[in-house]
Amino acid sequence: MSTETLTLTDNTTGNSSELNLLRGTLGNPTIEVKGIPGDLGYFTHDPSFGTTASCESDITFIDGDKGVLLYRGYPIEQLAENSDYLETAYLLIHGELPTGQEYKEFSTIIRRHTMINESLKSFFNGFNYNAHPMSMMMGVVGSLAAFYHEGLNMNDREHLMISAHRLISKLPTIAAACYKHSIGEPIVYPRNDLDYCENILHMMFSVPCEEYKVSPLAAKALNLLFILHADHEQNASTSTVRLVGSTGANPFACISAGIAALWGPAHGGANEAVLEMLAEIGSVDKIPKYLAKAKDKDDPFKLMGFGHRVYKNFDPRATLIRKVCYEVLEETGTDDPMFELAMKLEEAALADSYFVERKLYPNVDFYSGVIYKALGIPTSMFTVMFALARTSGWVSHWLEMMGDTSTRIGRPRQLYTGAPLRDYLSMEKR
Ligand code: CMC
Repeated sequence: MSTETLTLTDNTTGNSSELNLLRGTLGNPTIEVKGIPGDLGYFTHDPSFGTTASCESDITFIDGDKGVLLYRGYPIEQLAENSDYLETAYLLIHGELPTGQEYKEFSTIIRRHTMINESLKSFFNGFNYNAHPMSMMMGVVGSLAAFYHEGLNMNDREHLMISAHRLISKLPTIAAACYKHSIGEPIVYPRNDLDYCENILHMMFSVPCEEYKVSPLAAKALNLLFILHADHEQNASTSTVRLVGSTGANPFACISAGIAALWGPAHGGANEAVLEMLAEIGSVDKIPKYLAKAKDKDDPFKLMGFGHRVYKNFDPRATLIRKVCYEVLEETGTDDPMFELAMKLEEAALADSYFVERKLYPNVDFYSGVIYKALGIPTSMFTVMFALARTSGWVSHWLEMMGDTSTRIGRPRQLYTGAPLRDYLSMEKR
């Protein structure tokens, strides 16, 4: 990183502040504003953090104008083509691709931590069968803190790493249990001879009374979707994990907070919302009506799976997912009218000046639901799948932050617009 200096002068008072202009490896130069409150007595105002770099990070880089996404410098397209989810998780956590031996060791560690404490299973009995799986995920993942808190030394890197491994290993077991609970089937134990994504499918779809064979196509598609969802720099859920983590909170509590942030339809919940939207639109002839609704400022309807805070050209993940959608539907022999409808909707939106002018393109969530649906994964589980994939990103950022000696508690300031100082009035005088 290189540093230059900028001077910010208040023309009214003549006071000034020397600001560092920081240049990272890639991406926009960043003005370090932390001296301004001391020098000038001002705060900076950036609601929704559109221009704020909240931390330094070595993990993921996005160039939103060029549609570039790099994990530790590797283009997402190359990882999607050549890697698998566990290798990508290792890369995100450790910064380098693993050697054969490192991969074997990592994979063994992840497999060995897949079981959950038996008493955790009883938590599910407290949930109604129709509880949303994301609500169960939030609760049950948070409750892991009850099992792994005593004896956890937050200053011991080895302890933090074990927590990260536990999270990557156990979340699929919990996710599958959420699904099994919702359909009234017995919880299925993990099988450590299977690979990461195969195991998820096994725990979701096998039953004790029949043999279940994992479809190689489903495992391959899941692997790819998981690689594409694994990290996305300082998005809302990752920033949440960092913010909660900056207080020194238990790692399972941090990830549970990340799951909560992911659930919203503006973030990971969009994949579920896309399928609901496509079902509501129903047929190609209704597209103009729904595009008009999306453009109407008085209508809360938005085109779900469209638009992105950072991507203003195309989302490279959406491009890869659209391609896989074709392959999955072709190989499963599914003639899904929703895929057809999604493609026509994309075509119509991209020809519409409202979407063109605002640089709104399909994002990662636009097509992922169509694939999940073709794999037999129910709509309510889509965001859970996203959470499983994103866990490796969350833990990588949490580990990075915990290892950074300059980390302080995250504590934004505000622009107060409320009542000025006033005196309390007794009730009879109001
Ligand atoms: N449909 C219609 N109009 C939209 C949409 C949309 N999906 N997205 C943005 N706009 C409009 C928005 O109303 C605004 O218009 P104007 O300039 O006239 O006020 C303009 O485009 C700029 O949008 P913005 O709201 O300032 O953008 P943002 O960066 O705050 O929000 C977003 C980004 C992803 C939350 C938003 O585009 C959105 O709600 N999209 C639909 C939900 C979605 O697909 N979310 C998944 C995001 S990708 C995966 C992930 O992050 O988890």
